[in-house]
Amino acid sequence: MNSWLYTEKVKEHFMNPKNIMFNEKDFEYDAMGKTGNIKCGDEMIFYLKIDPDTLTITDCRWKTFGCASAIASTSVLSEMIKGMTLDAASNISNVDIIDELGGLPDNKVHCSVLGDKALQEAINNYYRGHGMFEKVRDTKSRIVCECLNVSEEEIEHAALEGARNYYQLQEMTKVGTSCGKCSEDAKERLAFYQDKHFGIKMGRPDERPPLAK
Ligand code: FES
Repeated sequence: MNSWLYTEKVKEHFMNPKNIMFNEKDFEYDAMGKTGNIKCGDEMIFYLKIDPDTLTITDCRWKTFGCASAIASTSVLSEMIKGMTLDAASNISNVDIIDELGGLPDNKVHCSVLGDKALQEAINNYYRGHGMFEKVRDTKSRIVCECLNVSEEEIEHAALEGARNYYQLQEMTKVGTSCGKCSEDAKERLAFYQDKHFGIKMGRPDERPPLAK
């Protein structure tokens, strides 16, 4: 979606967000997960109530210091996950969230990742707290470029911020600008995150046209 127009569903969820946490004392939860950093201007916290017999999410709340797109994305996500098992909720991607919203402007796709990540942290929190360590999905980021200390997470962030080819990725992260041995790995990671977050096969990363300014 290449315009700045928001769908009616995005507007509805932004104006009337569902399942917001107003007061932690009013909601008994079984797991909590947090992502982002308030110092960077975006933070998301997800709270889950879970049926221990079926490992199903029975209720949830969330709160954020994020933008309109982050609010709408997390609001719709909070409706999607009720009644789902933890494993099914883990499999929801931000492409699913954007589909449910009827689309998001490309430049706002990165905002839909906040709720998704906080939810995974909350699910991991439950699994860890109940000794189900084999079910925890690792959210730690691997270093792709040893010379410049560039992680997978930074490449993902650059993809979300609009890096459409390897040269743009290098401009944004400096990956591969020293010995260059990480370049194939970095290109593959860029392709992976573009496909993951934008839901389309875009060809090899260094053949992709740059985004229109
Ligand atoms: S490992 Fe990336 S430039 Fe050397």
